[in-house]
Amino acid sequence: MYLVTGATGNIGAELVRTLAEAGEAVRALVRDPAVELPAGAEAVTGDLNEPASLRPALAGATGVFLLPGYRDMPGLLGEARAVGVQRVVLLSGGSAGSGDLTNAVSAYMIRSEEAVRDSGLPATILRPSGFMSNTLRWLPQLRAGDVVRDAFPNVAVAMIDPADIAAVAAVALTTAGHDGQVYRLTGPQPLRPAARVRILAEVLGRPLRFEGQSDDEARVEMSQAMPAEYVDAFFRFYADGELDESPVLPTVEQVTGRPPRTFAQWARAHTSAFS
Ligand SMILES: NC(=O)c1ccc[n+]([C@@H]2O[C@H](COP(=O)([O-])OP(=O)(O)OC[C@H]3O[C@@H](n4cnc5c(N)ncnc54)[C@H](OP(=O)(O)O)[C@@H]3O)[C@@H](O)[C@H]2O)c1
Repeated sequence: MYLVTGATGNIGAELVRTLAEAGEAVRALVRDPAVELPAGAEAVTGDLNEPASLRPALAGATGVFLLPGYRDMPGLLGEARAVGVQRVVLLSGGSAGSGDLTNAVSAYMIRSEEAVRDSGLPATILRPSGFMSNTLRWLPQLRAGDVVRDAFPNVAVAMIDPADIAAVAAVALTTAGHDGQVYRLTGPQPLRPAARVRILAEVLGRPLRFEGQSDDEARVEMSQAMPAEYVDAFFRFYADGELDESPVLPTVEQVTGRPPRTFAQWARAHTSAFS
């Protein structure tokens, strides 16, 4: 039985569906027990910041898909070990490869990876590039009109569909040969925000236009949405160029046997979110 944390999120929901459709026994960690899940998936409540609260969810689990960055990652892994979990797939991020603990975003990924390694449990670490689903952050602007404004207009990212991350996670959880691997995962093409807006305009049939924010504007807006240390982290990544997520890597296809989805495919699969 597989426990999927973040089961209502962009990756977790896809992973629960993928495992359930494959006929695997799957348990979804949720905070709201009333949440709707795919047929065959069982909901269990728990708080990732409280490792002991995961005991009911972990009971009987052989594999766990784990999100990073919660308060006591060694404690979570300890609970998993104690019930006999045999395999963990950890979601991390591309910047963890820097080893830079002075960057707050990299630091929580690095510490989560360390907790997994220190647990001694067989594990696969996934380091995806930026998610295509970050585009959903444009929804308020798209409801208000046809102009999308965003930060870092000159930064191209080989964004990945969360469904592809979930597909890799499903393979790593359910088949042998992936324990001990660290997979850098990307989508099939590097895209600047203006290119994403152009593709979204075609898919939605709307005359959308992109306007890049200045770094000063972006800093003010981001400061309203996240703690200052994360704003600094993203400025170091994208304004100072410390993280290059533009290279396209073959990993998704190597692991899943099919190429990663394009941004147009992601947009077509999510048109209802934009209506
Ligand atoms: N966005 C990117 O470009 C990017 C790139 C690389 C890595 N990442 C990493 O990806 C992760 C986010 O993945 P995602 O997009 O799938 O996230 P998401 O869609 O925002 O989902 C987060 C999930 O975690 C659950 N959750 C949050 N706090 C919890 C808690 N205390 N206990 C139990 N469950 C909790 C949420 O449940 P509720 O429904 O109850 O809120 C939700 O299911 C982050 O860790 C981020 O660092 C993101």
